[in-house]
Amino acid sequence: MLRFLITCLCLVWASSALADPSFKATSPDGKIMVEVGSSFGEATYQISRAGKPVITRSKMGFLFTNAPKFDRSLSAISHTTRSFDETWDLPWGEAKSIRNRFNELSVTFEDGRGAPRQFSVTFRIYDDGVGFRYNFPDQPNLKQVAISEEMTEFNLAEDGTAWWQPAGEWNRYEYLYNRTPIREVGQAHTPMTVRTKGGLHLSFHEAALVDYSSMWLRHAGGTRFISTLSPSSRGAKVVRTAPFSTPWRTIQISDDAAGLVTSHLILNLNEPNALGDVSWVKPYKYVGIWWEMHINKSTWGSGPKHGATTENAKRYIDFAAEHGFRGVLIEGWNTGWDGDWFGGETGFDFTTAYPDFDLKAVTDYAKSKGVHLVGHHETAANIANYEPQMEAAFALYERLGVDSVKTGYVADAGGARYRDANGHIVFEWHDGQEAVRHHLRVVETAARHKIAINAHEPIKDTGLRRTYPNWVSREGARGQEYNAWGNPENPPEHEVNLVFTRMLAGPMDFTPGIFAINPTQKGHRARTTIAKQLALYVTLYSPIQMAADLPEHYLANPRPFQFIKDVPVDWSETRALNGEVGDFVTIARKDRASDNWYLGALTDEHARRLRVPLTFLDAGRTYKAQIYRDGPKADWDKNPLDIVIEEKMVTRDQVLDIRLAPGGGQAIRFVAQ
Ligand code: NOJ
Ligand code: CA
Repeated sequence: MLRFLITCLCLVWASSALADPSFKATSPDGKIMVEVGSSFGEATYQISRAGKPVITRSKMGFLFTNAPKFDRSLSAISHTTRSFDETWDLPWGEAKSIRNRFNELSVTFEDGRGAPRQFSVTFRIYDDGVGFRYNFPDQPNLKQVAISEEMTEFNLAEDGTAWWQPAGEWNRYEYLYNRTPIREVGQAHTPMTVRTKGGLHLSFHEAALVDYSSMWLRHAGGTRFISTLSPSSRGAKVVRTAPFSTPWRTIQISDDAAGLVTSHLILNLNEPNALGDVSWVKPYKYVGIWWEMHINKSTWGSGPKHGATTENAKRYIDFAAEHGFRGVLIEGWNTGWDGDWFGGETGFDFTTAYPDFDLKAVTDYAKSKGVHLVGHHETAANIANYEPQMEAAFALYERLGVDSVKTGYVADAGGARYRDANGHIVFEWHDGQEAVRHHLRVVETAARHKIAINAHEPIKDTGLRRTYPNWVSREGARGQEYNAWGNPENPPEHEVNLVFTRMLAGPMDFTPGIFAINPTQKGHRARTTIAKQLALYVTLYSPIQMAADLPEHYLANPRPFQFIKDVPVDWSETRALNGEVGDFVTIARKDRASDNWYLGALTDEHARRLRVPLTFLDAGRTYKAQIYRDGPKADWDKNPLDIVIEEKMVTRDQVLDIRLAPGGGQAIRFVAQ
């Protein structure tokens, strides 16, 4: 009988609003509605769009290691609402300014058992999705908060397809994306992208991940997901003192895939710039002593093949100066690379150079040529070794005029070494609370030295570049380097998957521009056409972009290289013109420093024709379109170097017929006349 009653009640719940008095708020355009309340002692929310459920009744709560859980005896006791609308400027970015307009609903829940304890949940409802976070107020009965699990549910109203990569496995965020029915998702990292049967596109992620553990999504059957926090060696996954707020749990919602690309929800949910004047943070393009190690032409470690020699560095600096690149990355100049450095066994020294590398001479030479060294801190995730050296390492770079540093954390997930409060080495995940704290310490230390950070094997991006604009880019997905290693290389659909998954989190240092893609290089080459390598500069946004290949490969292909020299890295506007997750995409961006527009189109392994109206171009202007397109015989596998480079005059009234080869792409520079 009881079971029957519960079933009936659930049906009522599912088919209408929450059964108990619930609080509601809508997006500014009225389309998205969120309802929050409590029933049978559970705190719940649900989301609908245009009258149709998107997230059905989903629970919110916590388990603690030091206190009874927030789960079954909760009642919603009060609520507040407010509206907000402001437009803010980005110091650098994919847009010049962003409108941050939302309606907010905060609901306070009280736990009825024992001594009273409270938490609240704040929902921000945007036209392009919803963010919500928990707030733990200052209160006598819950001061030290030790969270063993966050129990946030996401019950999708509709079945569909998901693009996701596994969480909780050794290779951090560097798996190929799975495309599966929602019902076959395992434990997923965010962002996770979903297309429902009805055609709605959703991205699940988080914003402003600060002093907390990363959220994974555990598939709990059907179309239901529950948050799982990345573990900690301490037991409790998060330890905090109230008052504090959790990161925002985010659901971006769009009618089409392209709409996800231009959603600014993640950035909007982050706090404004905390660093003040950041004019010292410069977007730039760079080359470097890098790909040559990945293809085993030279080594990071010392010996006859050592890549980071003074002489080789000068060669790259000359090349950068001649072709207009601001930066030269040099990896392997500091000691610690000899032996089994993965996982932090060797212990890097961040201020001592190998004998064949003169750091001062190299930075002086760069300066004389108007080029900036890009510094490198490979930590091998030995944080216990890195943190005590960090201050001196950044101070050294600052003294020498190095204003950006690439960091690295090569170690298996769960294998990052930290020193605990007792001085013992403990092993942590790359995305637990300790890692989250560490990355921010690095960014803050670097900021004090006016240095920008580009982290590899990083914590995932949750939009903190808004608050810390010196956090310019990061890796956090399979980058180009996998094409050097092979076994296997990234498949032709990989970059299109990235646009609709990883890139929704923020900029990625993918390192495009590999021209050595001759079929004879089978087993270790980019599975793209050369035109697609160019299109990546427009489609995979980052304020720092590498021209990753060897100088000699660019010199051998001067005409396609011209696009890499021309393409900007800082934009005033971005438009996603078309796209389907994992299949194809076309993105147009306007240069911040001129009236020129750029377009990049990518396809997966299938050839495609896309009709692209040029309506994004400014009215009343004529443009010289410099087109870099797949040649008639182009094919990533058999004929990757077939490219046609041509010019024609266009206006916004024209429609382009874009033909993409299998694994192909197209890049266009529209020069305003
Ligand atoms: C992995 C990084 O992704 C790569 O760019 C770097 O060269 C190596 N680690 C060595 O630090
Ligand atoms: Ca990497």
